[in-house]
Amino acid sequence: MPSLANGLVVGHRKLSKDMYELEFIAPEIANECKPGQYINLKVGNELDPLLRRPLSLYDVDKRLGSITLLYKVVGKGTQILTRTKVKEYVDVMGPLGRGFKILEEKSNALLIGGGVGIAPLVYLARVLKDNNCNVQVLHGTDTKNNLVDFNKLEEIGVEYILATDDGSFGFKGFVTDFLKEKINPKEIDYIYCCGPEPMMAEVAKYALVNNIDGEVSLEEHMACGVGACLGCARKLKSKDELYVKVCKDGPVFNINEVELNK
Ligand SMILES: Cc1cc2nc3c(=O)[nH]c(=O)nc-3n(C[C@H](O)[C@H](O)[C@H](O)COP(=O)(O)OP(=O)(O)OC[C@H]3O[C@@H](n4cnc5c(N)ncnc54)[C@H](O)[C@@H]3O)c2cc1C
Ligand code: FES
Repeated sequence: MPSLANGLVVGHRKLSKDMYELEFIAPEIANECKPGQYINLKVGNELDPLLRRPLSLYDVDKRLGSITLLYKVVGKGTQILTRTKVKEYVDVMGPLGRGFKILEEKSNALLIGGGVGIAPLVYLARVLKDNNCNVQVLHGTDTKNNLVDFNKLEEIGVEYILATDDGSFGFKGFVTDFLKEKINPKEIDYIYCCGPEPMMAEVAKYALVNNIDGEVSLEEHMACGVGACLGCARKLKSKDELYVKVCKDGPVFNINEVELNK
């Protein structure tokens, strides 16, 4: 069951041009969190913006009761959020939604993130690694100025590869180019993906062609976050008239289940 809490902010820093990392303490929520789920955050203390903003669980430490978010400034709400200071409180609802499947130990997992879509994959990497899975993380971004801090992945001890569209860091090209050129599909048991939909559509095609199962995490504009307003409906691939609610049935879906916008 999701709960409401006032999270004490214990860390907030700018990572790159538009990316921030925010850490707060909310033990009752942290304790329930699973990778792929998200929280709904009230940004600021005013009536406007009224609606909460959904943000993924970037990292969770159940021992400390802390949750870390990675967010990109795109509009009014996230801009207001940048002004939050350490020792202030944030109004949090969560955890919400359905998270990722956790593989059995020794499985080979490939995690593919595009831009800020890396956010839910870091906590996932931690939990998979704790479950003795082999974890490889591919992260693609446009340029090195938008890279995030990878100390977390280093600390978790997973293999990670960076790709930049302009070649300013790591592999030059889209992360999907790296996938097709450098990854041996026979060595992957399961793919997890989050990022722009055209990228996820390419990954889904790769998974289908190579007969690899997996999951994608979708972003959709949300209002209630609990399945009441129908604001986040998405069509299923196989059944013409069947829609799912991203906030409640997702945000994680099977890689072959939902219609992805190319
Ligand atoms: C389940 C889920 C998890 C998410 N996790 C993260 C995360 O970990 N880090 C992160 O930075 N962002 C994440 N997002 C996206 C984040 O919620 C939006 O960027 C944020 O709500 C924008 O708020 P705003 O007030 O700054 O922008 P707004 O003023 O509301 O919008 C600014 C611009 O962003 C676009 N936009 C707003 N919301 C979305 C959305 N959900 N999908 C696509 N475009 C959108 C608008 O069309 C507009 O062009 C997630 C979204 C969902 C649904
Ligand atoms: S956001 Fe209201 S039903 Fe999904």
